[in-house]
Amino acid sequence: VYERTAIIERVRRVSPTLQRLDIALDTLHKGIRPGQLFLARTTESLDPYLREPWTPIQADGRNITVERSNLNTYMPGQLVSLVGPVGKPIALREASRTLLLIAHESTPASLLYLAMTALSKNIAVAMVLLGAAQSYPIDVLPQEIEIIRGEGTTWGHQDKTLEWADQIVAVAPPPFDHDFYLALLMTIRKVRIEVVTGYAIGLFQPPMPCGLGACGACYIKQKGGELLACLEGPAFDLSAIEMAGK
Ligand code: FES
Repeated sequence: VYERTAIIERVRRVSPTLQRLDIALDTLHKGIRPGQLFLARTTESLDPYLREPWTPIQADGRNITVERSNLNTYMPGQLVSLVGPVGKPIALREASRTLLLIAHESTPASLLYLAMTALSKNIAVAMVLLGAAQSYPIDVLPQEIEIIRGEGTTWGHQDKTLEWADQIVAVAPPPFDHDFYLALLMTIRKVRIEVVTGYAIGLFQPPMPCGLGACGACYIKQKGGELLACLEGPAFDLSAIEMAGK
């Protein structure tokens, strides 16, 4: 994990609410993988103190694209301090042909780089949007992704979708994360007798003041104790967080 300066090369407004930034990285930051993120600061002062999590929606060598709200202002040529890559990559299961992504009360942006990687490997991708995720402007998504809209925490033909999925990756921000992931795991278990390690994954998004494993602010409870999201996550196996509670 390094702190380096990157350059915002292009700013594109892609919907009334979202903009995408194309960013040229320092050499030491190239090769960020799906599941990892940067912690960004666009001002020289320490205000705000907490860096913002910037998860690429796409990456190509030294260039990444991130998605931000239109409420922020960015300019081409602007410098940004990035700490990263933070966390461990999400491994697509070998022999997976189908991938189910679920966004609950969150933008699905943190799942998009994984979606793009899966599509490039000819893996079929479906995405369930629940709660606030339904306001995401889906016309900015690749057309190959099948979009499923749900009610509350469920969706139509839920059993069939879960049977279809060779792997499931979900995102739910705090405070929804633990409860949503545990309920999801229980639903998955009703449909699939065996849930192997790496099959069902949840992304955690605790505040990350350092991203280096130094401050201890990003612990996530697991079956065998607590793990730092910035070192061991932010994606964790749902069966490992089972029973851990909050
Ligand atoms: S962000 Fe400081 S230990 Fe994880």
